[in-house]
Amino acid sequence: MNSKHHWESVYQRNTTDQVSWFRSHLEASLDYIQAATPDPHAGIIDVGCGEATLVDDLLALGYDDITVLDISESAIEAAKRRLGKASSRVTWCVGDITQVILKARRYDLWHDRAVFHFLLDSNQRAAYVRQLCYSLVPGGHVVMATFGPEGPTRCSGLDVVRYSATQLSEQLGPSFELLSDHLEVHETPTGHSQQFLYTHFRHKDGIGRSLSVHRHGDDIF
Ligand SMILES: C[S@@+](CC[C@H](N)C(=O)[O-])C[C@H]1O[C@@H](n2cnc3c(N)ncnc32)[C@H](O)[C@@H]1O
Repeated sequence: MNSKHHWESVYQRNTTDQVSWFRSHLEASLDYIQAATPDPHAGIIDVGCGEATLVDDLLALGYDDITVLDISESAIEAAKRRLGKASSRVTWCVGDITQVILKARRYDLWHDRAVFHFLLDSNQRAAYVRQLCYSLVPGGHVVMATFGPEGPTRCSGLDVVRYSATQLSEQLGPSFELLSDHLEVHETPTGHSQQFLYTHFRHKDGIGRSLSVHRHGDDIF
């Protein structure tokens, strides 16, 4: 089963609060985002948003330039339904972050909770980091959460890579400066504890890109 089919099936088989990564609010992410980009007009992209309420909470805080992306259309549709009319204030995208052609624009902040750690192949990780570099403004922020060094080795039936802050820093490369990190224990809906690593990086210089550059991918939005 390919990745898209896997995730569509996960969201079709489970309600929002049945998946192991469910939290009613992504408190740590919200804290990092508000500290990094207090300006409500900051461009924020949530990569692999799933059905998380981060978008609802960001809208409630007054953020008005939010993009959410997921490989699963079912997850995006569920989040849209939950938001109702407010969903028109969000840019929604369905695509694989390692392949999608993102809009020709840059974001002030890139958020990822529990997506990067599913990328097992170094080529996939390189594609993700390229996308990140193309998409951030110079000096832009990355708030990324993965399983920590003592976190689970599998999630949602898939193998994952666990990271320390140093290891994640190595993955993102020298143009990203680690500003802060912490470990957090997440309690799953079935009562299991999972160690998460939260990180905040800043893109030191920004890699120049022409916004008209054509890149190859499988989705356009
Ligand atoms: C563990 S869930 C986390 C969801 C959400 N970030 C949260 O914290 O509640 C991982 C999410 O990443 C999405 N995903 C997995 N691989 C992806 C990819 N290559 N591109 C975009 N989304 C992806 C899945 O559909 C799923 O919604």
